[in-house]
Amino acid sequence: MSRVEPKNLPPFREAGRGRSLIDRRVDPHPSQAEGEGSRAYRNARKRSAIPFTPMKQRKLRDLSVSAMGLGCMGMSEFYGSRDDAHSMSTLHRALDLGVNFLDTADMYGPFTNEQLVGRAIRDRRDSAVLATKFGNMRGADGSFAGVSGHPDYVRKACDASLQRLGLDHIDLYYQHRVDTNVPIEETVGAMSELVRAGKVRHLGLSEAASQTIRRANAVHPITALQTEYSLWSRDPEDEILPTVRELGIGFVAYSPIGRGFLSGGFKSLDDLEPTDWRRANPRFQGDNFQKNLDVDRRTTRHRLGHVPRRRHRPDPRQQDHRPPRRERRRGRGYLHRRGTGAHRRRPAEGRGSR
Ligand SMILES: NC(=O)c1ccc[n+]([C@@H]2O[C@H](COP(=O)([O-])OP(=O)(O)OC[C@H]3O[C@@H](n4cnc5c(N)ncnc54)[C@H](OP(=O)(O)O)[C@@H]3O)[C@@H](O)[C@H]2O)c1
Repeated sequence: MSRVEPKNLPPFREAGRGRSLIDRRVDPHPSQAEGEGSRAYRNARKRSAIPFTPMKQRKLRDLSVSAMGLGCMGMSEFYGSRDDAHSMSTLHRALDLGVNFLDTADMYGPFTNEQLVGRAIRDRRDSAVLATKFGNMRGADGSFAGVSGHPDYVRKACDASLQRLGLDHIDLYYQHRVDTNVPIEETVGAMSELVRAGKVRHLGLSEAASQTIRRANAVHPITALQTEYSLWSRDPEDEILPTVRELGIGFVAYSPIGRGFLSGGFKSLDDLEPTDWRRANPRFQGDNFQKNLDVDRRTTRHRLGHVPRRRHRPDPRQQDHRPPRRERRRGRGYLHRRGTGAHRRRPAEGRGSR
């Protein structure tokens, strides 16, 4: 198929129909599809008149973000090898689709993930809500050097992040892990100076306990708390969710797909690359893995209706029509959604490469 230049494509809101938002592709306008009788022509005709459904928005206190965010950590580290070109097109595609809430941290990479995300949004800064984090200290060689919430460190970390991102401000700045040796009031005090200096717009915490959240919020309004929350991580429900609800703080759920496990992304550790950090995660060790697989089979298959379908359909704007990384790596079947919302697996063979 010949490459269709982006300028020949219809406005995005004219594309997509009856599919999950993330799965919508910008199809060639009927007049540019290959031949009137072709399937591409018929599909493009069907889609071109359908109104665009905008991405839902959520309020994190007074910060408005897309309901679906894009966590960028795995693009640079932890989940196997990286492919910056692929990640860059994912980032741009997300922004095109209205997913504007991008999450990174100085420690991801280390440091390279901020550079990647910064490059992706530099020319479209106004269409992104950029969140990054400080506090987990790492060496350039990747070593972990503990946690710091010292005011001096907060100031230095912020300047370094801004430089790597190539931006003049951060929309949401989180403390990644609470430093139990530094009173939270001092850390958040330093973070609030960054707001006054215009370097940061909103403050957040990650994995903080209820009392810490209250004390922090008394120093400066906390916009968001980021903590793991998914079908298999329910811990925040006891204390954390009631606290943030009471204080008007937004909750950002990280690893909502259980680090890829809940979507059937891998069925054994052999499915992961040798360097994949998940190989060392206790949830995936020994018997735990099998127990989690059993629970996953019983519960999640019917409840992941919100997970965007990821059937590969070549994007005519990309010269390199590569399937998602997971498919390339393992050539396996993956989650499918049927009209009724029921899920089933079918092997990659026979599915074609639509
Ligand atoms: N604050 C913290 O301490 C903390 C800790 C961890 C993460 N985070 C943030 O939260 C973000 C999200 O966490 P996470 O990356 O662990 O999230 P996740 O969504 O639970 O897992 C991501 C994995 O799920 C797979 N995946 C995503 N969507 C899928 C789909 N529709 N179908 C099948 N597989 C799918 C991806 O596969 P592919 O690799 O094939 O794309 C990836 O390996 C991170 O990127 C990071 O920004 C924060």
